[in-house]
Amino acid sequence: MAHASRLIATDIDVYLKAHEKKDLLRFITCGSVDDGKSTLIGRLLFDSRLVFEDQLAAIAAGTRNGDPDLAWLVDGLQAEREQGITIDVAYRFFSTDKRKFIVADTPGHEQYTRNMATGASTADLAVILVDARKGILTQTRRHSHIVKLVGIRHVVLAVNKMDTVGYDRKIFERVAEDYRVLADSISISRVQCLPVSALKGENVFALSSAMPWYDGPSLMQVLEEVDVTTDLVSGPFRLPVQWVNRPDQDFRGFSGMVVSGFIRPGASVVVGPSAIASRITRIVSFDGELDQAVAGQSVTVVLDDAIDVSRGDVISGADDPIDHSDQFAAHVFWMHETALIPERQYLMQIGAASVPAAVTSLRYALNVNTLEHTAAETLGLNGIAYCNLALGHPVAFDSYASVKDTGSFILIDRFSNATVGAGVIDFALRRASNICWHETKLGKQDRSRQKNQKPCVLWFTGLSGAGKSTTADRVEQKLHALGCHTYLLDGDNVRHGLNRDLGFTEQDRVENIRRIAEVARLMVDAGLIVLVSFISPFRSEREMARGLVSAGEFVEVFVDTPLDICEQRDPKGLYRKARMGEIRNFTGIDSAYESPENPEIVLKAAERPVDDLAEQVLSSLRQQGRI
Ligand code: ADX
Repeated sequence: MAHASRLIATDIDVYLKAHEKKDLLRFITCGSVDDGKSTLIGRLLFDSRLVFEDQLAAIAAGTRNGDPDLAWLVDGLQAEREQGITIDVAYRFFSTDKRKFIVADTPGHEQYTRNMATGASTADLAVILVDARKGILTQTRRHSHIVKLVGIRHVVLAVNKMDTVGYDRKIFERVAEDYRVLADSISISRVQCLPVSALKGENVFALSSAMPWYDGPSLMQVLEEVDVTTDLVSGPFRLPVQWVNRPDQDFRGFSGMVVSGFIRPGASVVVGPSAIASRITRIVSFDGELDQAVAGQSVTVVLDDAIDVSRGDVISGADDPIDHSDQFAAHVFWMHETALIPERQYLMQIGAASVPAAVTSLRYALNVNTLEHTAAETLGLNGIAYCNLALGHPVAFDSYASVKDTGSFILIDRFSNATVGAGVIDFALRRASNICWHETKLGKQDRSRQKNQKPCVLWFTGLSGAGKSTTADRVEQKLHALGCHTYLLDGDNVRHGLNRDLGFTEQDRVENIRRIAEVARLMVDAGLIVLVSFISPFRSEREMARGLVSAGEFVEVFVDTPLDICEQRDPKGLYRKARMGEIRNFTGIDSAYESPENPEIVLKAAERPVDDLAEQVLSSLRQQGRI
């Protein structure tokens, strides 16, 4: 612990302050089903005398081969699991004389890996259980990767069920060695391997007499003594701003929790992502004025000038300031049934900042079993991949290796608000940062004024054969006759040129719409009324297209023709081929169509002649003052 002694030498106050906080350890237990996780936690609760009388009576009643069944203490959730109730993470609290503990108990089944990631995200230490008879399993590898990914620096490998292998030293050493190889390969540096029997209580709370060859600490000793604060406090100062505190004209402070390092009044700081420098004049907390703030403390700081700081910004020490970028290389863990698709927009939450983000390329997916890098076009539930990401605007960040809290993020679905992924930043990609937006003398307004029109996008969406192109064609003719300057972008036609490299997989359709949304944006900038006729089956990409132009410029036209009618019409014979299995991923047959929820215009194309439909669009445009 070189930095610990450095901190003691340079700043004993800060060191002591950090250690006042040492009394709480958050840890997570992970393992496969049946590795004995519940028994282990039960044993910790039991031996630290945290079990109530009535529970003791019940334990006495239920025994496993003569040993009390401690799993019973924690397996209350098992029944819920069996009934198919989705559970998140159960947090348990217990304490000894030396420390308080919060343990996140997460389910072991593979389908619950994401819950494990949730529990792990706030933990200081992970206890990874393996069964001495089984050794390292896929779940052990997966869990270790996630532990690393969420930034847990301390790992205890508990080789459990030593009683079932006659407390054999060789077996323990073999498993421990296998694990060290795994830990090395994914750069987990602090690993402590323990031989335990949760069932018999060997090396859990007290040291075991059954394994005299083992001369390390018991699990409880490790939990009581591990130092998790020094690292945080000796890191660079980082305060992600949660809230701008402005009770009156005279006071303006920035509130949040110090996630790394420490600070004193008078210190020079740099605010990210703007990189503006300032100085701390005061630190205030619930307990009044402070002469320092250290990692783990929630405080309000006051700066000496009125610089612009808002929620999501990060105040950092000037000696090691925070970086900013809008493109990253990062490891991403996917937590949702709907796969990650490159170029789809999600919301990235990093610290207190929230920004639109898309994976621009999946560089490789990781096979957690073999550690092989494999090519991937999408990333499914529980998958881990190395990706490039592009954000809507720059954010303050650190590489995850240097500061865990400002180097990790989650990805959120823009519609359901579900957390779909979690990731850690490797480094910023600089290539785009040398490209600046070039302001032109002529703008959209000049161009459209000359054409005497308000530019917009008429975005026709609907099933194949719904009548999108026919209607869009008629609308364009009518607009043209009125003297409007227009252009029609049609899916089939654009797929002959610009998008001829794309097929019909989900990811190709996402890219198809991304390109055409960008083209439509350029055409609106050119002052045109653009008609876009693409199936555009996914809500997410249509919303992305809407977000590229100004409010009111995006008119979503839902060509609402039922599937059976499209199929009867089958103008290109494609439905018939799809039904016969000759073409795959056909929209409405074996590929989804997500109907618009609030389209500006709905056309019942099966019920009315095309001329009426076109008139309906025009009258709606007139009503909106567009033409
Ligand atoms: S989108 O889904 O990516 O928006 P797009 O509108 O460009 O699709 O292209 C759809 C056209 O491609 C259809 O009208 C149809 O003629 C043709 N096509 C060929 N294969 C498929 C398929 N598997 N699914 C849908 N359309 C297909």
